[in-house]
Amino acid sequence: MTAYSKNIAKILDNYVDIILVGDSMANVLYGHKNTHQINLENIIQHTKSVKLGVKKALLVVDMPKGSYKNITIAKKNVKLVLNKTKCDAVKLESNKKNYKIIRALTQKKIPVMGHIGYTPQFKKFKIEGKTKIETNKLLKEAKLIEEAGAFSIVLECLSSTSAKKITKELKIPTIGIGSSLYCDGQILVTDDMLGISGFYPKFVKKYVNLNRVIEKAIKKYTREVKLKIFPTKNNFLDGTKYRKQNRNKR
Ligand code: KIV
Repeated sequence: MTAYSKNIAKILDNYVDIILVGDSMANVLYGHKNTHQINLENIIQHTKSVKLGVKKALLVVDMPKGSYKNITIAKKNVKLVLNKTKCDAVKLESNKKNYKIIRALTQKKIPVMGHIGYTPQFKKFKIEGKTKIETNKLLKEAKLIEEAGAFSIVLECLSSTSAKKITKELKIPTIGIGSSLYCDGQILVTDDMLGISGFYPKFVKKYVNLNRVIEKAIKKYTREVKLKIFPTKNNFLDGTKYRKQNRNKR
């Protein structure tokens, strides 16, 4: 699952194998219309926060668009991310041309997760792998990523036929998002499944409407503050009795 901060990461860490600091933070947190404006500094800052909540899970960082344009830039930026955040691995979206970049990193013993199908850094949204030809192209792409040394691969918005075929043919685990049950693992953007992002496409199951839960709590708190119901004596730090004259003070 994805995390952008410590408190969520701490909860996820008890249940998931992998925590991804996704560049989806661009849409989810920063309100951008795509993931392109997120930069290395943003990713590093959020990963530092996430790292504070992670003890067990594998911490994977999404490399932002433009940060792995060629081998030299990729090596420099990935090292920076690893050094500054102490994460375990990085994720690179495939543009069908960057296999050599993945290879250069894995040769340096840097664990890389691949990402094919809908890759928001490079493509517009569409369900991928609807035809046999498309499925075979995706399979080829996945295999080249595996051969380049990736330890796993995200399949985003693939037809179930493609997901099934790729999962069967690859040795490395596939992790699906919007790609059916035929994957080795699944990932969702945490804010989507918790009902706080406002983005609920068909492939997202909203497990809770956290927006409503939070709103209820905020409404109650602000009402209690206005009515002087909160804080009560129990919340006074010095045990001072609540003095009635304060009540009318503005
Ligand atoms: O940025 C992200 O959150 C992702 C997942 C959707 C796989 O890449």
